Amino acid sequence: MDTTQNWFEDNRANWDDRAALHEASGYGIPALIADPSHLSAEVAQDRERLGDLSGLDVVHLQCHLGTDTVSLSRLGPRRVVGVDLSGESLRRARDIAERAGAPIEYVEANVYDARTAVEGDFDLVYTSLGVLCWLPDVAAWARVVASLLRPGGRFLIRDDHPMFMTVGDDVSDGLRIEQPYFQRAEPMTWDQVGSYVETPADAPEFTHGVSHEWNHSIGEILTALLRAGLVLDSFEETPYSAWTPWPDLMVADGDRFRLREDPDRLAMQFVLTAHRPA
Ligand SMILES: C[S@@+](CC[C@H](N)C(=O)[O-])C[C@H]1O[C@@H](n2cnc3c(N)ncnc32)[C@H](O)[C@@H]1O
Repeated sequence: MDTTQNWFEDNRANWDDRAALHEASGYGIPALIADPSHLSAEVAQDRERLGDLSGLDVVHLQCHLGTDTVSLSRLGPRRVVGVDLSGESLRRARDIAERAGAPIEYVEANVYDARTAVEGDFDLVYTSLGVLCWLPDVAAWARVVASLLRPGGRFLIRDDHPMFMTVGDDVSDGLRIEQPYFQRAEPMTWDQVGSYVETPADAPEFTHGVSHEWNHSIGEILTALLRAGLVLDSFEETPYSAWTPWPDLMVADGDRFRLREDPDRLAMQFVLTAHRPA
């Protein structure tokens, strides 16, 4: 295997372990199964941006356990496909979809291979929260997104903001920029067991702690999508996060989190919509 394949292989093993841990932690799954009209917080938040999905073909890239995929399927599309690198995530996603009564096709593939792995073209490509950081090359990713869309098709990404991703874990001295803002060829490599959920007492064993991440600047993301032929429709930055990397500095605000003091210092997420010209 070349180095890039080794990086993906480490990330796949890491996400297989996270899948078990995330399902054990709850991850919003019981609510989706109990209530056939329930939507994940992410999809509910972008309900207006997503618009009417009736009769449309939708592909969800990096779908993980499929909580957002199930939610998208509840907005009336004709076809919903979820793509992910982690077979263990998809094994669980299939079971969750069945229990939630959601007809979803799940395809195990690297996002870079999605065009060949998935049949057909799509009216909507959706991807959200914790996605670009696992991808080494944002330009190649944007070309895959464009290739999945039929003319007139739409794209929506909500993700952690690259500026948010530059801040280190140790904030005892305040927020400090420790990670690169711009895309680097070499990844940031971590070795830590566990994930961003609270580990339940009966959590399954977590053995694959090594993972590799990359950051991508806002300019790199926008340029990649424009060069891939997409037209930008909206771009918003927000001071809210879905998770709390620095619990001492953050407070809950509804089902999101923000800095306790002067939250306008740091963008934590961005949400972008674009389309392929008809
Ligand atoms: C944080 S989750 C994003 C989904 C959603 N926000 C959630 O929390 O359920 C990241 C997902 O990206 C997937 N992933 C990482 N690298 C990938 C790649 N190269 N191709 C496809 N999926 C990948 C992981 O397996 C994981 O399921």
